[in-house]
Amino acid sequence: MSSILAALHLLALGIGLGGVYVRGRQLRYPLDDARLRNLFAADNAWGVAAVLWLVTGLWRFLGGVEKPTGWYLHNPLFHAKLTLFILILAFEAYPMTMLIKWRIRVKKNMSIDPSPLSRMRLFNRLEIASVVIIVFIATFMARGHGI
Ligand code: HEM
Repeated sequence: MSSILAALHLLALGIGLGGVYVRGRQLRYPLDDARLRNLFAADNAWGVAAVLWLVTGLWRFLGGVEKPTGWYLHNPLFHAKLTLFILILAFEAYPMTMLIKWRIRVKKNMSIDPSPLSRMRLFNRLEIASVVIIVFIATFMARGHGI
């Protein structure tokens, strides 16, 4: 079970980093039909990765499949990792809200105001940077560092 959870956790990295990078590339003017389709598809991949990370991560953390839960609880690297994950959720609030609004407008054949694009790109970049930092923290933690 620990290998399957580790594989799914890693798979989330492939899906998620790819998704958020492509999403950032598509946050550009003009927001034509093809661009919006790609944007929403990349956003879906990012969402799938977030769920996969949370489910497999919590399982590994609480299920005692790698190390006991107390080991993580006392490891500052795990705290740093979770703090960054929560930061990603906070950075995601703005692009997520805008994209939900855009999806509704596209369904109703309504036009889209491109003015939030640059702020959405900024949050997207902050999310990419946070994922990269988490990967370094997680690999050090997994190899016994931090305690
Ligand atoms: C952006 C989100 C995340 C990324 C990029 C990420 C990345 C990683 C990576 C790369 C590893 C494997 C390290 C290795 O075996 O070399 C790992 C392990 C782990 N992650 Fe995550 N993770 C994320 C979210 C989470 C969350 C939300 C949790 C828990 C709530 C979590 C809990 C764990 C645990 C418990 C391990 C096992 C460490 C060990 O082997 O002892 N992760 N993570």
